[in-house]
Amino acid sequence: MAFFSRNKEENHSADLSDIQLPVHVGIIMDGNGRWAKRRGLPRKAGHSEGAKTFRKITRYCSEVGIKYLTVYAFSTENWKRPQDEVNSLMKLFKSYLEEALSDFKDDDIIVKFIGDKSHFTEDLQQLMIENEGSSKNRSGMVLNIAMNYGSRDEIVRAVKNICADVKQGKISDSDINESLISNYLYTAGQPDPDLIIRPSGEYRISNFMLWQAAYTEFVIMNKLWPDFQKSDLDEALRIYSHRSRRYGGV
Ligand code: IPE
Ligand code: IPE
Ligand code: MG
Repeated sequence: MAFFSRNKEENHSADLSDIQLPVHVGIIMDGNGRWAKRRGLPRKAGHSEGAKTFRKITRYCSEVGIKYLTVYAFSTENWKRPQDEVNSLMKLFKSYLEEALSDFKDDDIIVKFIGDKSHFTEDLQQLMIENEGSSKNRSGMVLNIAMNYGSRDEIVRAVKNICADVKQGKISDSDINESLISNYLYTAGQPDPDLIIRPSGEYRISNFMLWQAAYTEFVIMNKLWPDFQKSDLDEALRIYSHRSRRYGGV
């Protein structure tokens, strides 16, 4: 049975040609801890399983034609978790940066890290820079991995950089407008997310893309992230395609 269900998922393909796809999808990859707890496993087992889901869903997003995918992997607040959980997450990030991400070369995926890299160990920072460098000339989907990302922190950083640039005469205060602010964020040059998916059933944004999500459509799903399947992404895309986006108009 397990064989069948895995095989079914591997061969999964959906006809999404009739629907309007979002250009930029954000995913708050939540529910790893609860997935593990329900199985009587340590939380880190949930994170390992969640990392596999990340690999599968990222590749699938690229296959179906999503142009930008932003995944929330570790927030500025997640450092408050018990030290052994943080340590196991860092170990997992390291092994992904060493192996899994290089797999994305066959999928033509451009990898970027959004968030404050300076809090990570030197070797992790180096791996992030290498992954960004080696993928930057690809032409496929842009994958933003939000690590040590917090949107309030991102906005504070943007305000400081704007102030510094005004002081140095690079810009003047009359240049400050919405598009300039967008260009001081980590997502500079990218379209705002059209759709944010949050698995695990939580109805909150948890400091993710506060500025960029002004008119984003939200889809909350009851699946925990390690259980998230390609068919769940199809469902979220279909729900999105039926939304009427008005941007304050009529
Ligand atoms: C998301 O899963 C992963 C990270 C925040 C790093 P959680 O670890 O938050 O899982 P739950 O929400 O406790 O189930
Ligand atoms: C949001 O999940 C951050 C990530 C998924 C990386 P959390 O589990 O940290 O959020 P809260 O604590 O439920 O708001
Ligand atoms: Mg959580």
